[in-house]
Amino acid sequence: MTTPIRLKRITVPDLRARKGGEPIVALTAYTAPVAKLLDPHVDILLVGDSLGMVVYGMETTLGVTLEMMIEHGKAVMRGSQRGCVIVDMPFASYQESPAQAYRNCARVLAETGCAAVKLEGGAEMADTIRFVTERSIPVMGHVGLMPQSVHSYGGYRVQGRDEETAARVIADARAVADAGAFAMVVEGTLEWVAREITGAVAVPTIGIGASAACDGQVLVTEDLTGIFTDFTPKFVKRYAELGKAMTGAVEAYARDVRARRFPGPEHCFGAGEVTKAVRR
Ligand code: KIV
Repeated sequence: MTTPIRLKRITVPDLRARKGGEPIVALTAYTAPVAKLLDPHVDILLVGDSLGMVVYGMETTLGVTLEMMIEHGKAVMRGSQRGCVIVDMPFASYQESPAQAYRNCARVLAETGCAAVKLEGGAEMADTIRFVTERSIPVMGHVGLMPQSVHSYGGYRVQGRDEETAARVIADARAVADAGAFAMVVEGTLEWVAREITGAVAVPTIGIGASAACDGQVLVTEDLTGIFTDFTPKFVKRYAELGKAMTGAVEAYARDVRARRFPGPEHCFGAGEVTKAVRR
């Protein structure tokens, strides 16, 4: 008899089983050192396409490529051991057809070693989600405010403020769950809409700007740690001011270099020694 192999990381079925239980903790990670810091504390390490703005200084996520996501996905896998790593599918890598989505999702899974992909979209993406999940690629959905649709909205706008859009967001969530997504991000919507969705779908909802009515929460790590300060959305709570701490450290370093206080003897190799070769 063979012993069943137990994966050491949190798995997709582990997350799926958390519906209605202890809230799921998710954060974005784009690099190995940050993944290593977050890993003991979170359930999900999300390699979000928000890296376009946070890491690369882009204005939107639309310029992010599949190759960028794969390289950052590999880095986060190398830096972590426990968290379930989920990689975002970037704009235009999955919307064309279920076959295109399958091909690119499969590349992400095979090349990074991550457990699942996340893709934005509601009812219009249901066929694609079904096609991909039926072929053994776990998909996390993303409904509500979908940043890849920023130009259709005319800006990053909370979704569901009127009856029509609220009904659409709820219908999207149902369609994504029915299509086989194992969980979904619910972004930028009203509390009652998030509550309605969480009650209506059998899979965990992970909220961002969608209130505590969800089964878990996700934030961009650089927002909550105060590293990314270009703008702070209303739904972000700042738990640290690492950007300010970094500025202080860099200022002190610059002062020390200019005053020849750094490097000191303790930072030098063989300070005060003269090698035989030089003495001769
Ligand atoms: O790209 C991202 O980081 C995301 C999360 C903020 C949900 O999609």
